[in-house]
Amino acid sequence: MRVLLVGGGGREHALALGLAGDPSVEALIAAPGNPGIAAVAQVREVAAADPAAVAALAVEVAADLVVIGPEAPLVAGVADAVRAKGIAAFGPSAEAARLEGSKTFAKDVMTAAGVPTARAYTCTDAEGTAKALDEFGAPYVVKNDGLAAGKGVVVTGDRGAALRHAEECGRVVVEEYLAGPEVSLFVVTDGEAAVPLLPAQDFKRVGDGDTGPNTGGMGAYAPLPWAPPGLVDEVMADVVHPTLAEMRRRGTPFAGLLYVGLAITAAGPRVIEFNARFGDPETQVVLALLETPLAGLLHAAATGTLAAHPPLRWRDGSAVTVVVAAENYPAVPRTGDVITGADRPGVIHAGTARRAADGALLSAGGRVLCATATGTDLAAARDAAYALVRGIGLAGSHHRTDIAAAAVDGRITLPD
Ligand code: AMP
Ligand code: GLY
Repeated sequence: MRVLLVGGGGREHALALGLAGDPSVEALIAAPGNPGIAAVAQVREVAAADPAAVAALAVEVAADLVVIGPEAPLVAGVADAVRAKGIAAFGPSAEAARLEGSKTFAKDVMTAAGVPTARAYTCTDAEGTAKALDEFGAPYVVKNDGLAAGKGVVVTGDRGAALRHAEECGRVVVEEYLAGPEVSLFVVTDGEAAVPLLPAQDFKRVGDGDTGPNTGGMGAYAPLPWAPPGLVDEVMADVVHPTLAEMRRRGTPFAGLLYVGLAITAAGPRVIEFNARFGDPETQVVLALLETPLAGLLHAAATGTLAAHPPLRWRDGSAVTVVVAAENYPAVPRTGDVITGADRPGVIHAGTARRAADGALLSAGGRVLCATATGTDLAAARDAAYALVRGIGLAGSHHRTDIAAAAVDGRITLPD
């Protein structure tokens, strides 16, 4: 089949590697892609969040399947526009992508579906925010109601900082703090049938020991040696299937990738957030372990035939990815610096570009590269990922040194 992949970050590079490795894929086109993706796909220019432009490109390249990576095109209706041309799209409709695009909508669906999550209030003024903060107490959790690239959330013990964030955002969701280790579970679905991928863990804070501001994610590993047995089955039964049923009931079935962000609390798994697409950088580790051909799986979800798809096969061992970020990320990053050591297998491109004059590889975003490796166990995968990091040269860059460290050392405990 001919596949068009929309997007150009680390997640899309990981998806491109998976799609290119599927023997059923005869042509892979990526738009806008990036220099890493260009090694395995034909790269085309496109405004990724312009539904008409993406649909026209899908027709032009005679795509059999369009895989939409990032949230912005989904929320903008790119999947709808592609399907309107009679082409299969992996990714939810704009209506269904509101599960990610609006925190209030997501809470509404969770309440209607009886999904376990943090209690929350939507607040639009200082008085309402203060009341909600005081009801739940510290630590305070304040979320921007709209899309914020994973950075619209403030978790703080400082009531003043919580109030300031709410004022800056305008409309926020204030919610109860959930204590416990976090899990990212990705579920491939055609709206009815649903197939979980391996659970992964992301590292949201910029600094070692989970310090500093939230980011889009500084690293990840999979699978989770500390996860309670039965976790995935429990989340499928208590979260995923009720949510999919509620979306069908509303006449807006969710088909594509349902990303369930969870905290494993003393009371059991609680949903922190839904996303409507693969997580970044968790995708880098999850797909590194997936043996089942990726295009066939995504095509089945895009065409309503997932129930007939064979069970997934996984490689033994573990995978770790470490994000190499530009100076000053997650604030406005420094870009335009020459990168060295990015051509080795496992170095995934997230924010890179080629200099037109000489083809040199330059930093072009906050998260620049994801050093990704597998190993027979988590310790070996971690060592291999950090060996890749040491081989990368980028002036001013920074990375966390503790990705997967607590899990390797058996220091992750479940609250009781
Ligand atoms: P979100 O964008 O909703 O995933 O939030 C980003 C990060 O903020 C999460 O990965 C958590 O680390 C943290 N967070 C969000 N909501 C909560 C909550 N209710 N309790 C504790 N931490 C939270
Ligand atoms: N890694 C978190 C996200 O993709 O939202």
